[in-house]
Amino acid sequence: MNSTTSDSHAAYFAFRDQLLGPLRTTVLTGRQLCEAGRLIYGSPEGLSLYGIPAPEMEARGIQLLGRTAIECSIDSYSAAVADAVADLCTVSPEDCGAMVVDLFCGSGNVGFHLGRRLDLPVYASELDLVVHDTTRNNLGLIGSTVELHLLDYRDLLGKLPARSDHDTYVVEPPWGSAFTAAGLDLIRTSPPVPEILDDIRRSRDGRPCLVAIKTNDRIAHDSLARSFTGAQHLRSITPTPTLPHGANMDFHLYRLGEN
Ligand SMILES: C[S@@+](CC[C@H](N)C(=O)[O-])C[C@H]1O[C@@H](n2cnc3c(N)ncnc32)[C@H](O)[C@@H]1O
Repeated sequence: MNSTTSDSHAAYFAFRDQLLGPLRTTVLTGRQLCEAGRLIYGSPEGLSLYGIPAPEMEARGIQLLGRTAIECSIDSYSAAVADAVADLCTVSPEDCGAMVVDLFCGSGNVGFHLGRRLDLPVYASELDLVVHDTTRNNLGLIGSTVELHLLDYRDLLGKLPARSDHDTYVVEPPWGSAFTAAGLDLIRTSPPVPEILDDIRRSRDGRPCLVAIKTNDRIAHDSLARSFTGAQHLRSITPTPTLPHGANMDFHLYRLGEN
């Protein structure tokens, strides 16, 4: 790594601390959004949600909180997940009445892309009022049909019995203290991933479905495989890294089977 790259990584980690700390619930300015794009993804345009790159967000009324700028799954990642799910569907999802459920929706961008790519209804839950309100603002501005609820994910699951074996659940809970130098421990997210998967299974009376999960690129204690014991791994998506190993995002698709 040359000194310019390591300087920019140091600047990223400093800015990340700001976004998850003092700027956590602050709506970022256009300038801050561009800075986030540059430091995380290598260019201001790299931070792009709902098809809108950071340099255009402020003028178009898109609001992003500090925490969501770090936690969100950008357009290129979300579109890759949606393409993979579409590729795995053996029947046309709209023909089987399937749904997409974005359980920890944050910006709502993953559900937005899945719904658009698969032409399916999307239901989303977000528990934090400030995140919910900014996402509601954004989805309204882009004319999205994502049905957003200010709810705990368990309450959303309680409202949505299984519709199809092609129902797809997006599982991106906060990492919090589960993310350490050893990597991401999915058994220690809040809530733990195995608990979320059990909640999904229960809400469906065991009927099969797809699950898309975001991790970082260093998994601690084999916790991804352990969380998905008994499920079928279908695909992993590894975007080109923009940060040092251990700080980038990966995505994984699983089929939860009948139990
Ligand atoms: C990692 S972020 C999700 C990022 C999102 N996928 C995106 O692309 O922006 C996790 C989100 O889950 C929300 N959350 C935390 N606990 C929740 C719960 N029990 N039910 C619903 N949402 C929750 C947090 O407020 C946060 O916005």
